[in-house]
Amino acid sequence: MPDLPDLFAMPGLSRGAPKQGFPIKEMSPPVAYQVVHDELLLDGVSRINLATFCTTWIDDHARRLMAESLDKNIVDKDEYPQTAELERRAARMVADLWHAPNPATAPGTSTIGSSEAAMLGGLAAKFRWRHNGGTGTPNFVCGPVQVCWEKFARYFDVEIRQIPLRGDRLTMHPDDVAAHCDERTIMVVPTFGQTFTGLFEDVAGISKALDQLQHSSGLDIPIHVDAASGGFLAPFTAPELVWDFRLPRVKSINASGHKTGLAPLGCGWAIWREAADLPASLIFDVDYLGGSMATFNLNFSRPGGQAITQYYDFIRLGRTGYRRVQSEIYRVAQYLARRLADLGPFELINDGNPHRGITAVSWRLREGQRYNLYDLSDRLRTRGWLIAAYPLPADREDETIMRAVIRHGFTVDMADLLLADIGRCLGQLDKHALTLTKAEAGGFTHDATPAVPDSKMR
Ligand SMILES: Cc1ncc(COP(=O)(O)O)c(C=O)c1O
Repeated sequence: MPDLPDLFAMPGLSRGAPKQGFPIKEMSPPVAYQVVHDELLLDGVSRINLATFCTTWIDDHARRLMAESLDKNIVDKDEYPQTAELERRAARMVADLWHAPNPATAPGTSTIGSSEAAMLGGLAAKFRWRHNGGTGTPNFVCGPVQVCWEKFARYFDVEIRQIPLRGDRLTMHPDDVAAHCDERTIMVVPTFGQTFTGLFEDVAGISKALDQLQHSSGLDIPIHVDAASGGFLAPFTAPELVWDFRLPRVKSINASGHKTGLAPLGCGWAIWREAADLPASLIFDVDYLGGSMATFNLNFSRPGGQAITQYYDFIRLGRTGYRRVQSEIYRVAQYLARRLADLGPFELINDGNPHRGITAVSWRLREGQRYNLYDLSDRLRTRGWLIAAYPLPADREDETIMRAVIRHGFTVDMADLLLADIGRCLGQLDKHALTLTKAEAGGFTHDATPAVPDSKMR
């Protein structure tokens, strides 16, 4: 046996990793692996990252399916017809879950996430509006939305009309909608499980307000529901809540398979009520078993494993299993909310009631504390917890809130560990007040400040 040096004494690990120009020399795979693996030690631990909405736990069978489909490109329908078939079945199942009038013919597709699905829904609304004779710059009306809608507005030249928050109204209120609509409004976008607070917007109330608007003005404005997180919760835990295709005005819905859908990262769904709601000009054909198959996506190549694994989740759990899993995360969210309220300084906004919102527990700080929520977020990072603190959207930027997204795999025991750490941090902050700003605390939220302000882009 040749005398092999220890891994950490090999060339490659005795100097820093290449970081700037394209590397000149090769590295052996174990060395290169170790370099990358070790650098990633500095990333946060995803299971205790309560800022993310996305899947951070999947079972071993899902992992196996993901590994087995690593080489499958979902766009190659002809080469991987069964992947195409599983995607199609899963889309039909989602259409069924959301009460499409005819799930077998409702158009739907997997996407890379809710952002792509939202853009497709928005584009379909824009094309329908133009097809019906709409001219000028189109607009859409919404409450506080995730940044994907600001992207949609900017990338596709559509005006976003975000209804400002008023007082304690932290969601888009049906009473405020009509005043923001006109003949150039291509859709109203309620969020079913708001990013900021986790609260559901009242889709049925908004639909009714639009019925009244149609009655009084003749404007027939469709709804696209952003159900990124709510779309795979309410059907199981609040089935009597009417927010989906049961409302005739709802023409399209997006949701993230990779959030409450329990699929691995990289899976979203866009579903339309019926074929007429997805304009033909958005559809392209790709080869499929000697024939052709319709696709409507922004990207061409995409990994196939996510849709495959989503199908596995659907058949593995079924309605009964999803109800069990989702009820459990609501139970943990309610437990966390109750215990947070008991601590004293917090006032809950979303307490994990399945009829009011998703399992994103959110809270504000009562007046008179020596610290703010950015301080708490910063302190909690020292124990590995990532919990977002951020200001509310316009016109309530004066208020800072905090949110912990409870997901599959987060247990009561983990909630206890978190609560103990929060208690400890509050004790420290009471003694050594900090009062950081949002920028100083860093961290991660789902809002995003554009690199170039809108005013300068135009
Ligand atoms: C309401 C809402 N819509 C859209 C998105 C974007 O989803 P994705 O990250 O799947 O693109 C999010 C992400 O958190 C969200 O909360």
